Amino acid sequence: MAELDGTPVDELTLEQAAGELERLAATIADHDQHYHQDDAPKIDDAQYDALKRRNLEIEVRFPELIRSDSPSKRVGYAPSEKFSKYTHSVPMLSLDNAFSEGDVQDFVGRVRRFLGLDGDVAIPITAEPKIDGLSASLRYENGVLVNGATRGDGQVGENVTGNLRTVETIPQRLKGSGWPDIIEIRGEVYMAHEDFKALNARMLDSGRQFANPRNAAAGSLRQLDARITAERPLRFFAYAWGEISAPVATSQLEMIENFKAWGFDINPLMRRGETVAELIAVYNDIEAQRASLGYDIDGVVYKVDDLALQARLGFASRFPRWAIAHKFPAEQATTILEDIEIQVGRTGALTPVAKLRPVTVGGVVVSNATLHNGDYIAGIGANGEPIREGRDLRKGDQVTVQRAGDVIPQIVDVDISARAANSKPFEFPEICPACGSHAVREVNAKSGKIDVIRRCTGGLICPAQAVEKLKHFVSRNALDIDGFGDKQVEAFYHDGLVTRPADIFTLQARDKRSLKRLKDREGWGGTSVRNLFEAIDERRNVVLNRFIFGLGIRHIGEGTAKLLARQYEDFEGLRSAVKAAADETSDAWMDLVNIDGIGETVAHALVEFFTEPHNDEALDTLLEQVSPTPMEKTASDSPVAGKTVVFTGALEKFSRDEAKAMAERLGAKVAGSVSKKTDLLVAGPGAGSKLKKAQDLEIEITDEDGWLAIVG
Ligand code: IVH
Repeated sequence: MAELDGTPVDELTLEQAAGELERLAATIADHDQHYHQDDAPKIDDAQYDALKRRNLEIEVRFPELIRSDSPSKRVGYAPSEKFSKYTHSVPMLSLDNAFSEGDVQDFVGRVRRFLGLDGDVAIPITAEPKIDGLSASLRYENGVLVNGATRGDGQVGENVTGNLRTVETIPQRLKGSGWPDIIEIRGEVYMAHEDFKALNARMLDSGRQFANPRNAAAGSLRQLDARITAERPLRFFAYAWGEISAPVATSQLEMIENFKAWGFDINPLMRRGETVAELIAVYNDIEAQRASLGYDIDGVVYKVDDLALQARLGFASRFPRWAIAHKFPAEQATTILEDIEIQVGRTGALTPVAKLRPVTVGGVVVSNATLHNGDYIAGIGANGEPIREGRDLRKGDQVTVQRAGDVIPQIVDVDISARAANSKPFEFPEICPACGSHAVREVNAKSGKIDVIRRCTGGLICPAQAVEKLKHFVSRNALDIDGFGDKQVEAFYHDGLVTRPADIFTLQARDKRSLKRLKDREGWGGTSVRNLFEAIDERRNVVLNRFIFGLGIRHIGEGTAKLLARQYEDFEGLRSAVKAAADETSDAWMDLVNIDGIGETVAHALVEFFTEPHNDEALDTLLEQVSPTPMEKTASDSPVAGKTVVFTGALEKFSRDEAKAMAERLGAKVAGSVSKKTDLLVAGPGAGSKLKKAQDLEIEITDEDGWLAIVG
């Protein structure tokens, strides 16, 4: 990308300004693409805002140079091709930004001037957090949610109705009364910090990590498979509206109270002020609470409260005249990178962690930062492009730390000029620090590329992997054993009390015979030990999908575990089927990879796990203690319960995802291709080879209407 000219705006010549505007247009367009379409911004909001501001300042000085593709004429980015398009009946506009108290003063001044009101007339203005997520518009007709879309470019968004329906805090039907026949509720889809951390922890295995909660929310909402969205803990704050068939309030505050009565979450920090000083006080108060809110905010939004005044103010080309966003300054600090530590995860991945001299970033003391992998330390990004302009990180370096999205601290830059002359590049270990086994970068079978993650090959002999596997086994989404958290796992492992999952269930029996009783350990007592044993006993009949997930098999997340539990119904069924699938010419292999949502990578990981003799033996021992119970059938009396259904051709009344979700809700298994095991083929227009095969195999075939008739 072209280097920008750093010349102050008032010193630019006409020619320089034209060149700079051209470069800014290209640069900003590029960042828009990363942010909106790839959900992977390369610069932070403050840097982005600075580019936009410079563009605007040059345009103000040289209006004759304003380009047709000027970034100041655009909001957002064209919707992605992945989803069907949704044209907003009322455009979803963006907000103008203020960066200082002076800017807020100017905003209030502009409002007064526009309305022709002098200084004595009070103009109530609301102030509320600017949520750092992505905006969505929800259309309700007669109180029923009929459509949900992203903002897109403001005019046309992406139709993500099915995905938005899975968000718990979005009502399918409006509660209470008083809602107009048609109302579009707008607000922010976001992910809370704790949910974001848990999601990234769950995804560690896949090697993918979201950089911050905003990206996680965007990535989760813009999934083609609504089932994936359903497993992502998204939330929604309602703060605005689009089309509305009848007026239902006279002020912003009153409207938001309505939203609350209709079943939406509204932000509890919204306040009203009448002077700039009052607004700034709310801003300061919200900023002071920023670190403890539990979700990301990046500023405060001020809105003229009186809706009649809002209507009079209307919209300038891209922004409402009645609102503005007062942004927080970026949170960065410099400190010393004291050490680079290597942590070994459950599947053997070696993850480097920066040990920082503690520093306060935005009110929180930071002493660790993730370094992802060896390439990242060397200055190479995920797609092979340089990061930090290719500068590597070394022990002792002076680094700039940023709390990305307020959660995971990141090292965004390093000051090479402050580097000691004798410093050496970091050498990533090729030996596992926990067990001494070789740690290797595997070659991805599909892409042929060398994996960026180095993995310990120690498997079952690696104590670090064993401890992490145990932590995973008892974790909230797996066995969920109350009172048995990371600390207890580490202590029990250290003392040799629990070294593999089966040991958890023999703990009580062994404790009875032991000289050193658990209740006498520090931090424990009679009651807590009794509670622990009770919690353990409760899990002897854990549901199958949690059990499968708890085994910590590579690539098997919660969703995949559910698919397997649904397909194979009991654990022995799964185990024998996967063992048989080791022969890739077998029916068992075909059945496995034919499960919709399971590909070869997952199938290989399963085969590898179940054909490993040590695992087999550990499972036998574990199954003496635990009897996983079948997953609850979603709707056992439905006509398609237990049947295998394949969808093919175009569907017109609902999306493929909706059809799949519907089938699964009714207890059917959805397969990707037709085989002898298929019970029903639903064929829409344009169906081809699958239809032919189903006819050859004399499988029941129906169309979309037939399907609707079957499932009622
Ligand atoms: S009001 C017509 N209120 O900020 C303006 N927007 O930069 C309606 N945002 O697109 C937007 N929190 O995604 C409003 N409390 C809030 C907000 C908020 C976050 C986002 C929204 C908007 C963007 C504008």
